[in-house]
Amino acid sequence: MKIACLGGGPAGLYFAISVKLRDAEADVTVFERNRSDDTFGWGVVFSDETFDNIAGNDPVSAAAIRSHFAYWDDIAVHYRGQRVVSGGHGFSGIARKKLLMLLQERARELGVTLRFQTEIASAVELAKNYDLVVAADGLNSRTRGELAAHFKPAVDIRKNKFVWLGTQQKFDDAFTFIFEETAHGWIWAHAYQFDGDTATFIVECAETTWNKLGFGGMSQDESCRTCERIFANYLGGHRLMSNAAHLRGSAWLNFPRVLCEKWSHGNIVLMGDAAATAHFSIGSGTKLAMESAVAMADYLRSEPNLPAAFARYEDARRTEVLRLQSAARNSLEWFEDVERYLHLDPVQFNYSLLTRSQRISHENLRLRDKAWLESAEAWFQRLAGAGDNTVRRPMFAPLRLRDMRLKNRIVVSPMAQYKAVDGCPTDWHLVHYGERAKGGAGLVVTEMTCVSAEGRITPGCTGMYAPVHERAWKRIVDFVHAETDAKICCQLGHSGAKGSTQLGWEEMDAPLKSGNWPVMSATASAWSARNQRARAMTRADMDRVREQFVAAAEMAARAGFDMLEIHCAHGYLLSSFITPLTNWRTDEYGGALANRMRYPLEIFHAVREVWPADKPIAVRISANDWVGAHGIEPPDAVAIGRLLQDAGADICDVSAGQTSIDARPVYGRMFQTPFSDRIRNETGMATMAVGNIFEPDHVNSILMAGRADLVCLARPHLANPYWTLHAAARLGDREQTWPPPYYAGRDQFYRLAGGGDGLAAKV
Ligand SMILES: Cc1cc2nc3c(=O)[nH]c(=O)nc-3n(C[C@H](O)[C@H](O)[C@H](O)COP(=O)(O)OP(=O)(O)OC[C@H]3O[C@@H](n4cnc5c(N)ncnc54)[C@H](O)[C@@H]3O)c2cc1C
Ligand SMILES: Cc1cc2nc3c(=O)[nH]c(=O)nc-3n(C[C@H](O)[C@H](O)[C@H](O)COP(=O)(O)O)c2cc1C
Repeated sequence: MKIACLGGGPAGLYFAISVKLRDAEADVTVFERNRSDDTFGWGVVFSDETFDNIAGNDPVSAAAIRSHFAYWDDIAVHYRGQRVVSGGHGFSGIARKKLLMLLQERARELGVTLRFQTEIASAVELAKNYDLVVAADGLNSRTRGELAAHFKPAVDIRKNKFVWLGTQQKFDDAFTFIFEETAHGWIWAHAYQFDGDTATFIVECAETTWNKLGFGGMSQDESCRTCERIFANYLGGHRLMSNAAHLRGSAWLNFPRVLCEKWSHGNIVLMGDAAATAHFSIGSGTKLAMESAVAMADYLRSEPNLPAAFARYEDARRTEVLRLQSAARNSLEWFEDVERYLHLDPVQFNYSLLTRSQRISHENLRLRDKAWLESAEAWFQRLAGAGDNTVRRPMFAPLRLRDMRLKNRIVVSPMAQYKAVDGCPTDWHLVHYGERAKGGAGLVVTEMTCVSAEGRITPGCTGMYAPVHERAWKRIVDFVHAETDAKICCQLGHSGAKGSTQLGWEEMDAPLKSGNWPVMSATASAWSARNQRARAMTRADMDRVREQFVAAAEMAARAGFDMLEIHCAHGYLLSSFITPLTNWRTDEYGGALANRMRYPLEIFHAVREVWPADKPIAVRISANDWVGAHGIEPPDAVAIGRLLQDAGADICDVSAGQTSIDARPVYGRMFQTPFSDRIRNETGMATMAVGNIFEPDHVNSILMAGRADLVCLARPHLANPYWTLHAAARLGDREQTWPPPYYAGRDQFYRLAGGGDGLAAKV
């Protein structure tokens, strides 16, 4: 087989090697425009795990590469005058130039023809003389452009500016991040040693900072001198060097995230950065390139023909690329949004940085560096007021809101039971909430409890609009207080246009088969074509509903609830005012966000007046309508958070969606947590995160990284009322209190959980 590799970077060279290892007869030529020893860039990093994969493919080149590795285990973060170090990260670095030289040597040894200083003008032309052309022509792949109509590349140019520099200052004890504040904003460096006397020093900052610092008008040399001045405290008098002579201008770049819809056409296949890129902050570009090379070489051998080999290659590598790109996106977005985290304590900032890609979990950090994680946990507990010597997982830290003290950070999220009779909670509710309060969560939130009969979602919804409701709720609250140390919060709401619908397990959001009652909303509208049209609320309606909220709050206070939550999410009445999707009023309650928030805030203030001053009030919002720019998006949610904070809300319960039938949510683990993170860290307001959070590890990492103050779990608590007790047992936390009658069960559970010092297993 006659093969051309277009590009002598890691992808092209390693593919040539991998093919020759499988088929010594193959005729393989690598075409590279540069000389053999002139390459841009400085070092590249591999994780231990990555390198084991490569070594399995070719032990010879792996041994050569390994013998030039600089190893380090620690990550050091310089921030606000402190250097925080954590260990166990296991990385190695090598000069890019050295890596390429070793790969060239190995390729030659295996009989690959290397043609340097050979510019290929067209892959299509080249392909006429070869059976296979591997287009490994890098980030700015000409082939990708030439065949754009077939490959359909999507190139997303990211916001930050970065420059890849080198230095002879030693960073040999740790992969080092340095965050520096300048008069024009923050700028930071990613630094790591890659051989005896050289380290990579990537400098990155937001475009606004870059403009203000004047980098745009500087030569590469001037850029280096400016960066030297900024990072002088860390460079020990050493210079910063650029070797990007091939780049015009200042050598600063914006990272392009590349993904092609198709990776092959005819006998041409894309590989490495040409096909897909992964942001440098997760150090995986070279790994991706080399692993793709191995996969393609494998399929070339195992499959009967080129199209079959290409199909398997694309299939297998695309999944891996998407996985890495998702981690890379989290990581690069963290750096793009870093100013959001720059108020954090160095301990929390460090944790947030280490877990930014969401590939490293809380318990995984414990495996890497137990002492460091425990010191961070102790810091968290101290801050939470748990005392100086407490080392427990963050989920077991107390939280105080006004005079309410929660024993831990787990919340049973509000969940409609549809078991009420005429709005009155029944024995079902006593047992249901009683069980969950016994189950160890710090806070149990009731289902949406409606302020009037017409404000119910379904005929099975609970209410707080009659003395009998107050008495029934009091019985539940009294049980929780008498028998458990959980607190209980009443979620008050009004269904608006989504009212008069069937029970949750019948047809969700569908109108009743008979006995529908009239509904109202911010504007005359219907939830869907099947639902009745709600009438627009008049001012008189608004007064009446406000008084209903006030009366319900008074009843909840008399029933002894510890906390109130006002439901302003999910398309119900108050939510219908907030989202522009259902509010097109022309009075002072419609239009700009401040107007759309006016009525929900009016309710909040009226309720706050009658609710005991020592007890907190939460507000649940939909932080994203999931319909794009014409609905609520996360920046709007920050503005909503600010208005709630100014109004005196104690905590924002950050949910999302359910405001439009056109919503297209992007689901995933912890998928709504970024909205909580954003509100909390941009406003300073306390938040609760919710949405597909189901493992203790999720909860601990959210709390420890400062992405929320409380974590709500809904469905996990339907499956297991004792979620928190079980989590504690599996994690080996013996301080969690169990109800005394259950001690024998607890002891057996502890024994079966086996000391619980290991990873937080699924609960
Ligand atoms: C700032 C920065 C830091 C990085 N840090 C790391 C890191 O720490 N770890 C890591 O794994 N990765 C890192 N990367 C990414 C890594 O450099 C790339 O992912 C990797 O080099 C991809 O290999 P490749 O072979 O696909 O492309 P390249 O290495 O770019 O190789 C492509 C080659 O093709 C040649 N070429 C292009 N067009 C033609 C043509 N028409 N004719 C002839 N030759 C041509 C080029 O000269 C080049 O040598 C970093 C990238 C950047 C920008
Ligand atoms: C059966 C059920 C009923 C729900 N009822 C309510 C409710 O009354 N009020 C509310 O704000 N959210 C309600 N939710 C939403 C949950 O509180 C939570 O936000 C959502 O289920 C996502 O969390 P999870 O992934 O942990 O389940 C309900 C969810 C479920 C599954």
